[in-house]
Amino acid sequence: MHILVTGGAGFIGGVTTEMLCSAGHSVTVLDDLSTGDRANLDARALFLEGDVGDAAFLDVLFAEHSIDAVVHFAGFIAAGESMRVPSHYLEVNTGRSLTLFAAMARHGVRKVVFSSSAGVYGEPHFTPMTETHPTVPTSVYGLSKLLVEQALVAIAAQGQLDFVALRYFNAAGGTQGHVECHQPESHLIPLALAAAAGHGPALLIFGTDYPTPDGTCIRDYVHVEDLARAHLLALSALDQGTTALVCNLGTGQGYSVTEVISTIERVTGRTVPAGVAPRRPGDPAELVAASDLAREVLGWVPERSSLEQLVTDAWDGYQTLHG
Ligand SMILES: NC(=O)c1ccc[n+]([C@@H]2O[C@H](COP(=O)([O-])OP(=O)(O)OC[C@H]3O[C@@H](n4cnc5c(N)ncnc54)[C@H](O)[C@@H]3O)[C@@H](O)[C@H]2O)c1
Repeated sequence: MHILVTGGAGFIGGVTTEMLCSAGHSVTVLDDLSTGDRANLDARALFLEGDVGDAAFLDVLFAEHSIDAVVHFAGFIAAGESMRVPSHYLEVNTGRSLTLFAAMARHGVRKVVFSSSAGVYGEPHFTPMTETHPTVPTSVYGLSKLLVEQALVAIAAQGQLDFVALRYFNAAGGTQGHVECHQPESHLIPLALAAAAGHGPALLIFGTDYPTPDGTCIRDYVHVEDLARAHLLALSALDQGTTALVCNLGTGQGYSVTEVISTIERVTGRTVPAGVAPRRPGDPAELVAASDLAREVLGWVPERSSLEQLVTDAWDGYQTLHG
């Protein structure tokens, strides 16, 4: 297949592009490099620098390249930032996704795999969360993803597009060539590794008064390679006739910020200098996935997502990059 990967210069998009190329697919990456890094680009893929919200650019792209399916990663990812610039997040994540889907429709491209997020759920009513859990996002970021999912459901219901929306919980880990590194960095593990290595400021723990056993937030961390593999499975499902599917990608096992820090200290043999800051608006206490649907429908099983493995791979990548 010829796959268009939007956001392929990013962390998860870069690993997925590499896996798609290795599986023999032809890949075109569309990325505006707003937060991505050329280092994540795969030499086997064609790279086009552009914006998923640029309809004229998309028309040329789809006219000149025979695209079979789109894997849509491009977007902004920081829940905290989304509360400061809500309109911008909605315009980029939701508005530009709709521009992409309209361009696909104009050019007869039917299949799309969309990067959704655990952020669509909001505060947990029960845990682990299944896909039927109420979706009441506590961040504008989560809302921006939920609105795209709802648009996909509506378009697919009219028979005009087939989609799989994957609700990732927390992407983590790393590979030989891909280190988790966002601009600005907002994710716990890379920030904690930088603090441990003495390359970054002390880690800020946002809130120690959550209703969790140690008072810090609990998240479900998934290895980026496991996430990438789910996209290949989703593309196969679309090829075999799936028309509309929303499913979680997580491990079912949550870890608190304190537990992640202890694991990092054990794996790296270093102390993570840390301080406490107030809760960030939009951060739910606990996000843990039930991923039975992904297992049953896609045949997806996380293989590298134990906390120890994630942190080891992230630290290996960090050391390769920073020495
Ligand atoms: N990292 C996580 O834990 C996580 C969790 C849930 C969902 N997601 C979603 O997965 C996707 C990828 O996340 P990531 O961690 O790889 O982020 P990332 O920031 O590393 O990658 C995003 C990429 O999209 C590109 N991009 C942004 N806006 C664009 C636009 N308008 N046009 C073209 N390119 C654009 C950026 O340059 C970047 O290369 C995002 O949609 C994110 O919301 C990530």
